[in-house]
Amino acid sequence: MKTNEHDYYSQLANWSFEDINYEVENFTNWIYEDEIIKHVTKNSKILDLGTAAGEKVLKRFPECAEILGTDFSEEMINAANKNLEKSGKKNIMFKVMNNLKMDTPDNYFDIVTARHTVTVPKQIYNTLKPGGYLIIRGVDKLDCWSLKRMFNRGQALHDNKPISLVDYEAVLDAGFKDVELIPLHVIEYYKTKEDLYALLLKTPILDDLSELKNNEEYERVPIEKDIFEQYVAENITEKGIKLIRRYYGIIAQK
Ligand SMILES: C[S@@+](CC[C@H](N)C(=O)[O-])C[C@H]1O[C@@H](n2cnc3c(N)ncnc32)[C@H](O)[C@@H]1O
Repeated sequence: MKTNEHDYYSQLANWSFEDINYEVENFTNWIYEDEIIKHVTKNSKILDLGTAAGEKVLKRFPECAEILGTDFSEEMINAANKNLEKSGKKNIMFKVMNNLKMDTPDNYFDIVTARHTVTVPKQIYNTLKPGGYLIIRGVDKLDCWSLKRMFNRGQALHDNKPISLVDYEAVLDAGFKDVELIPLHVIEYYKTKEDLYALLLKTPILDDLSELKNNEEYERVPIEKDIFEQYVAENITEKGIKLIRRYYGIIAQK
């Protein structure tokens, strides 16, 4: 079935990974959630871009004055509002917004966070207060590289310039100061092949959405069973099925 990027995410609707059993080993000491905690005070106003169903904001973000979570998928925001109702939290709001056309007020937020989503740093710069922080975690070109090479498809497989560098330069060009780009080397171990399969179904690791033009349609290729089995056979370890992740962090101040 053909779909565009917006509908692709809407069909995933619930971004929870709680039913996937995996362990994480970090090889760098820069942890996105810790960076947020480090910079938040009880008076902070935070904007979380591409918030999906709001799990991170509801469960992991520290107490503060105000959090706005946004996503361009109405289904994600509906799911986030249901999660919000269950949580009983009063300082959090969710709304539909496209990260490419932000309509939040100028000089309003103390912190803007964006985890695994697209950003326009100049628009983020405008909505931050002077002295405010931008904290990004992204998925880099070499993420799951051996898996993507085996399938000969996937996110960023054909990018000439790594997305981390594209983002880093856009943050610098937007006028931010003290911009840091941190490569994040992580290994994940999936308990069973069903856990790994569930991850591949829930995420665009094997889908290259980055080359889609505005609203262009995309047809998801079913996961080829023989290639999947080959990857599993070659990557079984005592800790589980190994998947090498390459993320990046960016932190910058207005
Ligand atoms: C990979 S998920 C990440 C979700 C969440 N931030 C997390 O870390 O678990 C990407 C999210 O970004 C949203 N998204 C993608 N492109 C967007 C855009 N142009 N504007 C707003 N949200 C977008 C998707 O709907 C999806 O919920």
